[in-house]
Amino acid sequence: LHGERMIVVANREPYLHNRRPDGSIEVVHPASGLVSALEPVMRACSGVWFAHGAGSADRETADAQGRIRVPPGEESYWIRRVWLTPEQEHGYYYGFSNEGLWPLCHVAHNRPLFRAEDWRHYQDVNLKFADAVCQEVDSDDPVILVQDYHFALAPRLLRERLPRATILTFWHIPWPNAEQISICPWHKELLDGLLGSSIVGFHTRLHCNNFMEAADRFLEARLDREGLAISRNERSTLVRAYPISIEWPNRWVESAPASDACRASVFAELGLKEDAKLGMGVDRLDYTKGIEERLRAVERLFEREPALVGRFTFLQLASPSRTLIDRYQRLNDDVEQLAARINARFGADLWRPIVLKREHTEPADVFRYYRAADLCYVSSLHDGMNLVAKEYVAARDDEQGVLILSKFTGAAQELTEALQVNPYDIEESSAALSAALHMPRDEQRARMRVMRALVAEFNVYRWAGRMLIDASRLRQREQLAG
Ligand code: G6P
Repeated sequence: LHGERMIVVANREPYLHNRRPDGSIEVVHPASGLVSALEPVMRACSGVWFAHGAGSADRETADAQGRIRVPPGEESYWIRRVWLTPEQEHGYYYGFSNEGLWPLCHVAHNRPLFRAEDWRHYQDVNLKFADAVCQEVDSDDPVILVQDYHFALAPRLLRERLPRATILTFWHIPWPNAEQISICPWHKELLDGLLGSSIVGFHTRLHCNNFMEAADRFLEARLDREGLAISRNERSTLVRAYPISIEWPNRWVESAPASDACRASVFAELGLKEDAKLGMGVDRLDYTKGIEERLRAVERLFEREPALVGRFTFLQLASPSRTLIDRYQRLNDDVEQLAARINARFGADLWRPIVLKREHTEPADVFRYYRAADLCYVSSLHDGMNLVAKEYVAARDDEQGVLILSKFTGAAQELTEALQVNPYDIEESSAALSAALHMPRDEQRARMRVMRALVAEFNVYRWAGRMLIDASRLRQREQLAG
């Protein structure tokens, strides 16, 4: 990938600058699968990452055009921050993207909300980003990587302004079936916007098929089911599955202390005895992640195996997310009450079965916990990929630890040596927790080895590389066609 100059359009920026209460400025890595995947790719290339400037000290740390060189100390690429008005942020980000599209695309039984005024802001913000990209590019055929459900309209807007551009759009969340997508009053506009791309990528073949089906039903488009392409207005868009991944070798693993040292420091921090067992989960506090189901499975485990009381602790790292939205506030309260109830039921003296940390945890610390925990439970009710699963595997260079993984994640298709569960099934999930805690070391090693080899090979550079190879073939073909 080295040497490619990338243009990325994504809502979330990889480095946020915030002002602390004491007046100093801190740099934060946001909790986002998209950011953890794409950031190493940008570090390997040069280029510009366009994003919504959301940090409280973002303006004062950027230049007059909203640009700042990152990563701090390394400075291999630029972020260009795009400023949104509070109304735009509300309508485009909280409203249409996260109260509309997010619940629409995830089967988690939360009803989507579609407000005309949110849609107007969504359109305006997509236009604002397309204009910002056009100001920045210095050729008429740049390669532009458009990311996620915040920017379904940007590919078409970019195509109108830069007809020769190569536009690669990646949708990081599931794409639902045609009937479900038609719930959105503007589903045709979303489809048409995405078909401004040269390539539209999803994590799985199922999501590609769902997308093709929707284009077939709702737009005047010609489908090439063999070649996985959609033609509309004499332009063709390839639809491809590119399962996303993480960086490997992984800088957080390389800079982490040895597993023994991590275990010692985490156990000391949590006040655990040396022979205790530790399970963990790490997520944004989001209703698609199945955090309540996970805690109930832990509760059921104590009912099934009372001998674990006092000996097994579950650490849940939950990073507050989208906190202005009611549904997220309710989830926050529900998770807190559930953890408190389980702790009251089984806790004794100073020991609590569930340690809930509702705060942002920086990646270096998350990896320290991964390296200390006997098991990691990813219980998403629905998830495009889920990179926590891959990170846990990457963190375990000692080939120990057990991954329990929801079958409703994209990752479940690749990590078949994980203990796979239906997270709604509390009996099955608690049985998997028990099996993980009793799994012999040799079996842990055998499973970890296979999963580690897979993530090492299909790392995030492979993900980006495959998209760029497909893009360069497309460019050659277009050049030949004149
Ligand atoms: C998901 C989305 C990303 C998003 C992340 C964090 O992984 O696919 O686009 O960045 O959640 O959510 P947030 O709203 O905080 O960016």
